Amino acid sequence: MAFAGSHILSVDQFELEDIERLFDVADLMLPYARRERTTRVLEGAVLGNLFFEPSTRSRLSFGAAFNRLGGYVRETTGFAFSSMAKGESIYDTSRVVAGYMDILVVRHPDEGAVQEFAAATHVPVINGGDGPGEHPTQALLDLYTLCRELGLRPGGLGGMHIAVVGDLKYGRTVHSLTKLLALEERLTFNCVAPAELQLPDSLVRHLRARGHEVILTEDLAEGISDVDVVYATRVQEERFPEGIDVSARKEQFRIDAELYDKVCRPGTVLMHPLPRDSRGGTSELADSLNTRGELAIFRQTDNGIPVRMALFALVLDVADQVTATDRAATWFTPRRFGVLDTRDILS
Ligand code: NCD
Repeated sequence: MAFAGSHILSVDQFELEDIERLFDVADLMLPYARRERTTRVLEGAVLGNLFFEPSTRSRLSFGAAFNRLGGYVRETTGFAFSSMAKGESIYDTSRVVAGYMDILVVRHPDEGAVQEFAAATHVPVINGGDGPGEHPTQALLDLYTLCRELGLRPGGLGGMHIAVVGDLKYGRTVHSLTKLLALEERLTFNCVAPAELQLPDSLVRHLRARGHEVILTEDLAEGISDVDVVYATRVQEERFPEGIDVSARKEQFRIDAELYDKVCRPGTVLMHPLPRDSRGGTSELADSLNTRGELAIFRQTDNGIPVRMALFALVLDVADQVTATDRAATWFTPRRFGVLDTRDILS
């Protein structure tokens, strides 16, 4: 695909060679993401970060990634403080902000709304999550993390066995990640969810048509044993029709250290797009796993920076100029970001 000037709306746009290109650039971005060096390659450029749905990591990491390339960020959050609350259409809003910004990241609660945003402008639009639809940059950073955890490159995951667990119906990160993984050869997907929250039929058919094995199960212990990677997700309560009680569903798919030790192969990588839903005292991946080296969830969030930097650099066509304004960063950075982290930042 041609990255320069393109909208990034779906993982369907990516072939393996595009992912390889993106990951090569993401590797180049690591010294800037880790605060060893700085670059000003996007100095003067302005990102419009338009988040019409709650977000912590996507919004902040898109913004921080743009800042680390030397660019400026303007944001709007929620509908209440935007003119959409006065009835402005997506077309008008998009056309207006396109006049102010060089690139836009848009998150919206309705599936397809970000595509509508993009259709109104030639300024590149990146999908930051459209309702239960897609979340392409999350899938890219998930795959980048998965490759680094397993020591593999895109195209080299053939034969891998992954369990996706939880709300597979409304969880857009699973939709995007499984589609991206479908580009690999002969994977096995254990889809662990209650029947009413299973992976959409169209996706199951897509994976099977590409030669992958797809096993649908409600049995958590069985589903997460004998896999290389477990990708857990939050029950997307806010997307449920009103009046449905989801609490029992939340209980059913929780993994803690005891279950992990009992049923998982040693070394099984644990992933989650976050946020973990900690209401009720525990979450999909319990705190008892926090000291485990296999828990990759914060390496996922850290990797959001180099991957999003790479995407900005490719879409704005400056990937080959990044080192031209490069210098050492001189301020204090700790050796590890989190008190329970098991690896140094530079490892
Ligand atoms: C997810 C999202 O917003 O789709 N989080 C994220 O972007 N990292 C998952 C979620 O909300 O559960």
